[in-house]
Amino acid sequence: MKQSKLVVANWKMYLSTHDTSVLINRLNKKVPVYRNVEVVLSPSYLSLQPASMEIDRRKFRLAAQDGFYKDEGAFTGAVSYSQMRELVHYAIVGHSERRRFFNENLDEVRDKVAACVRNGITPILCVGETKQERNENETKQVLHDQIVTALSDLTSEDAEDLVLAYEPVWAIGAEEPAKPDTIKDAVDWMRYQVRELYGQKTESSIRVLYGGSDEPQYVSGIMEVDGVDGLLVGRASLNFEQFGDIITGVHLAALSKD
Ligand code: PGA
Repeated sequence: MKQSKLVVANWKMYLSTHDTSVLINRLNKKVPVYRNVEVVLSPSYLSLQPASMEIDRRKFRLAAQDGFYKDEGAFTGAVSYSQMRELVHYAIVGHSERRRFFNENLDEVRDKVAACVRNGITPILCVGETKQERNENETKQVLHDQIVTALSDLTSEDAEDLVLAYEPVWAIGAEEPAKPDTIKDAVDWMRYQVRELYGQKTESSIRVLYGGSDEPQYVSGIMEVDGVDGLLVGRASLNFEQFGDIITGVHLAALSKD
């Protein structure tokens, strides 16, 4: 059976714990239960615990925005996936902001993916090229390297639940998302990498998201792209009306494809 669509809100470092509660309350009221869409919220570490009590569990699950790849020990300031395993179903791994501002390299991303899986958390692995890489025709190589390295410790069974997100760096925080044709080329290539590594069965069971300047008016165009199973939403997920409309858009797109 084809899995439900997936919409993930990435709240980054925008909200206080209080603001997070207010937004969750509004979303609890605004968002209906759609059986064909799973909605995941990613508050900051600080807000995960209260959020786990506040979310309407028929509608939402939680994701960590990051985590440390060791399970425990003398690592001042770090939070491990094993510490979050009771709170979250998912974790965003390898977001371009982590790669850029926190110098996360391919090996660290691989270790985080493995740590998630070890702790029963589904990784949402973000990959994507910068503007310069695109201009220099390196998009395929970049996506290949990011995917192949990140998955190198996973068996095909581990990989079956995986979520990949195509997030071209140049489309994050931009005026508009990447065009559907561009998304299609990248998503086909990403799925091909997974097929080469693990075979057809695993490739058809993973979900692939698009992220980068998602807004309600772009949802149907993006969701029409074959191989796209949902969205990873930054700014628009901070506004409950817009995020609610995005979720409804994904629901309607899924209905029209059935
Ligand atoms: P944006 O962020 O929707 O604000 O462009 C997307 C992301 O960083 O995942």
